[in-house]
Amino acid sequence: MTIDSHAHLEMEEFDGDRDAVLGRAAAAGLMAIVTVGTTIPDCEKAVELARLYPPVYAAVGIHPHEVKGIDAGTYDALRVLAQQEKVVAIGEIGLDFFYDLSPREVQLRWFAEQLDLALELDLPVIIHDREAHAETLAILRQRKGRLRGVLHCFSGDAAMARECLALGFYLSVAGPVTYRKSEQLRAVAREIPAERLLIETDAPYLSPQPWRGKRNEPVYVVETARCLAEIRGMAAGELERVTEENARRLFGLGRKKSA
Ligand code: NI
Repeated sequence: MTIDSHAHLEMEEFDGDRDAVLGRAAAAGLMAIVTVGTTIPDCEKAVELARLYPPVYAAVGIHPHEVKGIDAGTYDALRVLAQQEKVVAIGEIGLDFFYDLSPREVQLRWFAEQLDLALELDLPVIIHDREAHAETLAILRQRKGRLRGVLHCFSGDAAMARECLALGFYLSVAGPVTYRKSEQLRAVAREIPAERLLIETDAPYLSPQPWRGKRNEPVYVVETARCLAEIRGMAAGELERVTEENARRLFGLGRKKSA
C-alpha cells in the first residue's frame, strides 16, 4: 500500500483506458495518486479527475516547457484552480535547461511567480529541475523557511540532495532508479532520510524496468518501491508505508474534503 506522488493521468495517453489504469492501481493497493497538471487545460482536467475518482488528488501549475505560452490571464486562472477541492499542491513548476523549450528568463520569472502563488495560498510545491540545479537552489534559497514541497524525479547529486533537505524539501524517486546506468541516483537514493522520501511514476513517462520504453502507469510505482527498498536494505512493505505517510503529511491527504 502506497501512494504515487506524481503522475499525469489527465494526459491524452490515458484517455482510452483511464478506468482500467485506475482499477489496476487500486487492485495493487495504491491508496492515492497525485495527478499533476502542466497547462491550464490539463490542470482543469486534473481537477475534474480528482472530483470523479476518490483516490485521485490534483496539483495545478504550468510546466517550464509550457510557460512560453502564458498570457495575462494564466496566473488568475491558476489561482482559481488552486482553490478547488482536492487540489493539494502547485505543480508541476520549475526549470528545464536541458530541453530549453521556453526561454530561460521566462522560465525563471514564472517559476518564481508560481512559488509565490503557493506561498500566498499556503500550498506545497512540486518542482521539476532538469540541468538547472544551481538556478533552482538559488530561487528556493530566497524563500528559505517559508516554502514546503518536493523535488520530483530528483536528479541532483549528493550535495544538492543535502541542500534541498536542509531547505526542508522532500525528494522523490521515480523509475530511472531501476535503470542499469543510474549508479549516482542509487547512491543518492540510499542516503535520503526515510522521513523525506517520496516515490512516484511520472506516468506516462519514465517507466521502471522491465517496462522501460512503454507507457508508464501508477501501478508500476510498486516496482520502483521494490527496487528502492532493496537499495536501502528495507522491507518493501516498510518503504511503501513510510512513503505513503510522507505523501499524506506533505500534501495533507485525508485532511482535505475528498469530493
Ligand atoms: Ni511530471
